[in-house]
Amino acid sequence: MAQDNSTKRIAVIAGDGIGKEVIPQALEVIRASRSNVEFTEFDWGADRFLRDRTTVPPDGFSMLGRDFDAILAGAFGDPRVKTNIHAKEILLGMRFKMDLYANVRPVRLLDAALCPLKNVEPKDVDFVVIRENTEGVYTDAGGIFKQGTPDEIATQEDINTRKGVERIIRYAFDYCEQHTKLDGSPRRRVLMCDKSNALTHAGSLWQRVFKEVAAEFPQIETQHMYVDALCLQMVRDPGQFDVVVTNNMFGDIITDLAAGLQGGLGMAASGNIHPGKTSMFEPVHGSAPPIAGKNVANPFGAILTSAMMLSHLGFTQEAARIEAAVLDAVRQRKTTQDIGGTLGTREAGAWIAERVGHD
Ligand code: NAD
Ligand code: IPM
Ligand code: MN
Repeated sequence: MAQDNSTKRIAVIAGDGIGKEVIPQALEVIRASRSNVEFTEFDWGADRFLRDRTTVPPDGFSMLGRDFDAILAGAFGDPRVKTNIHAKEILLGMRFKMDLYANVRPVRLLDAALCPLKNVEPKDVDFVVIRENTEGVYTDAGGIFKQGTPDEIATQEDINTRKGVERIIRYAFDYCEQHTKLDGSPRRRVLMCDKSNALTHAGSLWQRVFKEVAAEFPQIETQHMYVDALCLQMVRDPGQFDVVVTNNMFGDIITDLAAGLQGGLGMAASGNIHPGKTSMFEPVHGSAPPIAGKNVANPFGAILTSAMMLSHLGFTQEAARIEAAVLDAVRQRKTTQDIGGTLGTREAGAWIAERVGHD
């Protein structure tokens, strides 16, 4: 989105658990960055659902698309809602109903001390996973038949459309062409990750489309890995990855593994994007019920997510200042305990806000 002078409107949905702790810190940091934005907060989440059974109010998704430039979300999931229906309707609802087809999950190691692997430095972990976000096994196609009987059958169909596969693969190539690595060097390679040796129907479509789209980008190298092999390679030699494109479920799984390379789920950011439409930004982590309400959750994933959102909205300098402050905090151990510091969620967020405010 091009930079202009208008105030950007951001819908904020903190959600459940630690979402309610990390999102306020992200808002403080955005305020400190003096970006020209205004926030409208929504109470969608488990508390609201348990109170009045509302997950998303009628017209909620069209309202978000119509009235906002971006959405900042926390996390959804609460042990009191066993079916997870509210999380499905709110989070997957935004992704599917607003057609936010590209889930962009950057994987960056800010400091060698955060990586559980030996001899791995920040230059070795700087890749991005482009996860298909509107299809696959997440579409809810299928059903349960003869429930509760010995003959029960549950199906969960893997939906892959030509249009859906093509647009996510093209997004990955475009991303590769338009983005550099943190050190300023160009991105060069798109790797497609699938399981086409076993899942041959879906695999065939992805393989054919990958070759076709790749032909339009002769300057970009291509590579393929089966998802199981990729998991091994990710811990053996993460430096080989650049842009990885994959389906919805594999993207979900490998980005938790990738978060491990960055220092854990508390460090991982993401954007759910449809170019030109209102997009949604959320940390990769969930609501982490066991640590919720204790002021221990790492707010940096949410803060880096807000930098991603600001950059998407055209506030690139503000985003860069926020990222630089997080890097500084990590280096100086002004962090929560999960990544080696002694600060609480609020104190770690306040440190970043203070630093960003002074820049
Ligand atoms: P989780 O991401 O909530 O937690 C996994 C592990 O990472 C836990 O040990 C947790 O303590 C730790 N962790 C996560 N975020 C952290 C942070 N910011 N700082 C420090 N530690 C952090 O995943 P889970 O336990 O599998 O799921 C809990 C709930 O969250 C479930 O209801 C799940 O469905 C939901 N969930 C929601 C989202 C989302 O809304 N985007 C994503 C993942 C999981
Ligand atoms: C994520 C989460 C979600 C997903 C869950 C909460 C439905 O794990 O954003 O990675 O599977 O996409
Ligand atoms: Mn996940």
